[in-house]
Amino acid sequence: METLITSSPLEAAAILNEGKTVAFPTETVYGLGAAIDSPEALAEVFRAKGRPGDNPLIVHIGTPEELPRVASKLSPEAGLLVTRFFPGPLTLVLPKSSEVPYAVTAGLDTVGVRCPAHPAAHEFLKCCHSPVAAPSANRSGRPSATSWEAVHNDLDGKIAAILRGNTSRIGLESTIVDCTGPRPLMLRAGAVTLEELQAIIPSITPAGETQKNEAPKSPGLKYPHYAPRARVVTHERGESPAAIPSASAWIGLGTPPVGIALAKLCTTHEEYARELFSFFRHCDREAIQTIYCELPPEKGLGWAIRDRLNRAAGNH
Ligand code: TXA
Ligand code: MG
Repeated sequence: METLITSSPLEAAAILNEGKTVAFPTETVYGLGAAIDSPEALAEVFRAKGRPGDNPLIVHIGTPEELPRVASKLSPEAGLLVTRFFPGPLTLVLPKSSEVPYAVTAGLDTVGVRCPAHPAAHEFLKCCHSPVAAPSANRSGRPSATSWEAVHNDLDGKIAAILRGNTSRIGLESTIVDCTGPRPLMLRAGAVTLEELQAIIPSITPAGETQKNEAPKSPGLKYPHYAPRARVVTHERGESPAAIPSASAWIGLGTPPVGIALAKLCTTHEEYARELFSFFRHCDREAIQTIYCELPPEKGLGWAIRDRLNRAAGNH
């Protein structure tokens, strides 16, 4: 399949409306979209990514007003989160409407819903006739794509089109909050921080703290993720790794260890989040063997960065 690259949200939406797959930019990472009413395009998404069929897709809407199309019920707490954080880097898990097929939710009666805060994504979604199911636009298991070039590297020839946009402003996937249980649970950390969520709903906790022995609530979280080809090794700040092999890289906020071939020093958490996945991909192009990653402090955006680093390192 020839992959078309376009800068026109209108043209990209027209291709999606024909039942084809289209990658598009958002402020978190690029998504690989399919209309939720197109079984062929949904199957294409799983095929192009090499994604396991039991991992549900997030449904994207252009405006918060479209929520009733995809969710059958909004609890008062979910309503508060929508008011505060939509549009933005937050996905809510809600009871699904009948319009959302099980091919999207991998058989679940719940659906993840997100309304991106990104001008081109907004234009694109507005021109799509149906809500758009979209996982991150990378081959399954690889770091998410934060630029159209990264999408192209992973998926050229496997998808119908790429809506070319800017480099993703945030660079990590959305925060996911499950609003279907007795109280909201944060399933995945992201740019909407735990502190910001708790300012609206004090009882929100990360899912891991309450369900240590249960199956993961978010089916995708059991799979290996975000991994470059290089080995990823994490360390806390100040604990410099010993005996650095040659062809090693490092990313972090402090001081790179001595003997590092390729170092990325970030000045803020925001910069760390934005650069992480593109640095992983850069290291692969440079044939780096080991990437040392300094874990940021356990607060704010630091939680999301730590989560992705630990998963990439296989620490879970
Ligand atoms: O920022 C993002 O969220 C990006 C952009 C494109 O929106 N999307 C994204 O999608 O990261 P994906 O497929 O890479 O990750 C979605 C995660 C998976 O871990 C999946 O299991 C979980 O969301 N998920 C989706 N629907 C769910 C549901 N109904 N219940 C629990 N978890 C769900
Ligand atoms: Mg993903």
